[in-house]
Amino acid sequence: MSTANSRLILGLWRIGQWDMSAEQVAGLVSACLDLGIDTFDVADIYFDYQCESMFGAALQANPALKSRIKLISKCGIALVTPARPAHRVKHYNTSGEHIIASVENSLACLGVEKLDLLLIHRPDPLMNADEIADAFDRLKRAGKVEGFGVSNFLPHQLELLQSRLGEPLQINQVEVSLLHLDSLFDGTLDQCQRLRVTPQAWSPLAGGRLSQQHEETSLSRTLSRLGHELGVTREQLAIAWLLRHPARICPVIGSGKLPHIRELVDAQNIVLDRQLWFELLEDAMGYPIP
Ligand SMILES: NC(=O)c1ccc[n+]([C@@H]2O[C@H](COP(=O)([O-])OP(=O)(O)OC[C@H]3O[C@@H](n4cnc5c(N)ncnc54)[C@H](OP(=O)(O)O)[C@@H]3O)[C@@H](O)[C@H]2O)c1
Repeated sequence: MSTANSRLILGLWRIGQWDMSAEQVAGLVSACLDLGIDTFDVADIYFDYQCESMFGAALQANPALKSRIKLISKCGIALVTPARPAHRVKHYNTSGEHIIASVENSLACLGVEKLDLLLIHRPDPLMNADEIADAFDRLKRAGKVEGFGVSNFLPHQLELLQSRLGEPLQINQVEVSLLHLDSLFDGTLDQCQRLRVTPQAWSPLAGGRLSQQHEETSLSRTLSRLGHELGVTREQLAIAWLLRHPARICPVIGSGKLPHIRELVDAQNIVLDRQLWFELLEDAMGYPIP
């Protein structure tokens, strides 16, 4: 297995809202593969800890998919839910014991022998970098995880973990979209570019809010106008805007509808010129650049 590499990734966070059978999800995965999306993003906690089992059922419905896809999962957040009766308080757990147990559970739920990538879901104030490094090492040597990354980490947090690892972190999955610009200015994307860590953008359409044309904001009006001028949709523009960034952002899209997914795949053919990119940035910021 190689590491994740399709530019668009399909996120399964919303799988519980899709109202699809395992066979239908398998069909969606197969259609994504035909479109060039080979990487799928899950996490232990999604859909109250049921997402991995639901995706595993889809893979079971068409086991030939398993060797064709790349799987990203995450661990480190502990939710208070009847599904985890031992959790009294929402907390983060990046202990070696928790990481290893979580990966073993993910593999069992997904019905696969290996994850292509494991991400630490959120920075944990009690993070012990030596302990995580040891857990990563054991998972790698056991053949259970191919590569490692983080999610929602600021540069200094990534730097700390990286300082104890024998191999480079491959991913920082962060929230980036025209409605969430922090990582452009807080050093996150600069660090990704410097270290050649791939930034993955979660909620690249701001969870669907960028689709809402009735929003009377300057950004919304500009997306509609430019979309009309260029003959593309506002969602395609929002994805093309992310793809234009030199850190090579990989959007983790969350649609469960094939026509929407196909539309976003086609956005890879749109090349935004610099001035147009800045026009969208300015509208997104809500004030002129200095
Ligand atoms: N690492 C983290 O902390 C973290 C946090 C949150 C999410 N994530 C990952 O990021 C993934 C994506 O997040 P997201 O679902 O918020 O992403 P998103 O792509 O920003 O939003 C997807 C939502 O937009 C809707 N939408 C409306 N019109 C659309 C159009 N024309 N094209 C595409 N979508 C349209 C989709 O509905 P339809 O289904 O009707 O198309 C869906 O409900 C998640 O699945 C998860 O894997 C990671």
